[in-house]
Amino acid sequence: MVKDSIIETFDLTKRFEVSSHEDVGYGLEYLSRLVKRKLFKRERRFTVAVDRVNLKVERGEFFGLLGPNGAGKTTLLKLLAAILYPDEGTAYVNGYDIRKERRQVRSSINIIVSGGWLGFNWWLSVEQNLKFFGRLYGLPKKLAEERTNEALKILGLEEHRNEVPFYLSSGMRQKLLLGKAFLLRSPVLFLDEPTIGLDPKAAYTVRQFVKEKLNKEYGMTVLMSTHYMEEAEMLCDRVAIMDEGRIVAVDTPDNLKKLVKKGEFLEIKAANMTPELIKKIEGLEFVEDVVTRMINPVLGISVIRIHTSNSRALMPELTHILQSEGAQIRFIRNIEPTLEDVFMNMTGKRLREG
Ligand SMILES: Nc1ncnc2c1ncn2[C@@H]1O[C@H](COP(=O)(O)OP(=O)(O)OP(=O)(O)O)[C@@H](O)[C@H]1O
Ligand SMILES: [Mg+2]
Repeated sequence: MVKDSIIETFDLTKRFEVSSHEDVGYGLEYLSRLVKRKLFKRERRFTVAVDRVNLKVERGEFFGLLGPNGAGKTTLLKLLAAILYPDEGTAYVNGYDIRKERRQVRSSINIIVSGGWLGFNWWLSVEQNLKFFGRLYGLPKKLAEERTNEALKILGLEEHRNEVPFYLSSGMRQKLLLGKAFLLRSPVLFLDEPTIGLDPKAAYTVRQFVKEKLNKEYGMTVLMSTHYMEEAEMLCDRVAIMDEGRIVAVDTPDNLKKLVKKGEFLEIKAANMTPELIKKIEGLEFVEDVVTRMINPVLGISVIRIHTSNSRALMPELTHILQSEGAQIRFIRNIEPTLEDVFMNMTGKRLREG
């Protein structure tokens, strides 16, 4: 293993058997299914959730996994956290083999899975939960208390210290789970979509806390999955783009965006944009791709993003068509590509639908 990488994977692979409705049944139905399977040897089908992944994460790095639903992000994190066992290949986490040294891997990491509230003790208060985690993982009593108080303060949970997790909002629960990471300070932290479903303010607190405290101040290596490209751009030193179990690109957000520098991007905000008009724009010469977002359905105001091979050559025809079709242009400007464009460029798909 290379000296300064804290996570390194070697052709890491995980398959899941695809089950269909025919596999479900009780009693006799279940028996007949077993018999049929033996007699007819129905072919078993598998999805490759993680497909020969080779990845290196440096010590202290903030590393992002970006990809659409079903890309294999959660499965990859669970493999590295020694929750799932690989079918092929292996990985080293903090110097330990995820096949052979699973206990040591588990004590090197902390994993926070989205919506994974199972880690709480529902009968203990917020404060007691944190202290309990600390004590369970061997912190001395005084240190556990100190860190609990600090965590409650930074995460804005002080007012809720005496409540039980059952009555907390999902944002508060997510903060409480991060409090656990703060207490234990394992060298590696896995975060599975840490801000999903949180309001903007809670999402901001969570991001700041993870970046400034856990990553920068305590030097924890963070591997985070996300759907939000803005989040990946904001937080990550490097990002791996994942699709159908494979890593399609790895680099800093800036370098990834340079990959789509071929061509330029125009953004137009206008009222009265009809689907027919957008079809016409898509058909123009020099237009590679068009993404439309309606921002005010009442006034019919939309923002459209055009990937073009030559914006200067496109402009006269574009403005002509917009004006003749009655669109009221608010602005047209050149914009930088986003990670979404990188993803589309690499896979021909969108990260998020809509
Ligand atoms: N326990 C399981 N049993 C069977 N198939 C599974 C299981 N877990 C995941 N899969 C399949 O593996 C593939 C990858 O799933 P995974 O949850 O890792 O994707 P993801 O990138 O985390 O997606 P999302 O963004 O929706 O969270 C999917 O096709 C999924 O259906
Ligand atoms: Mg997932």
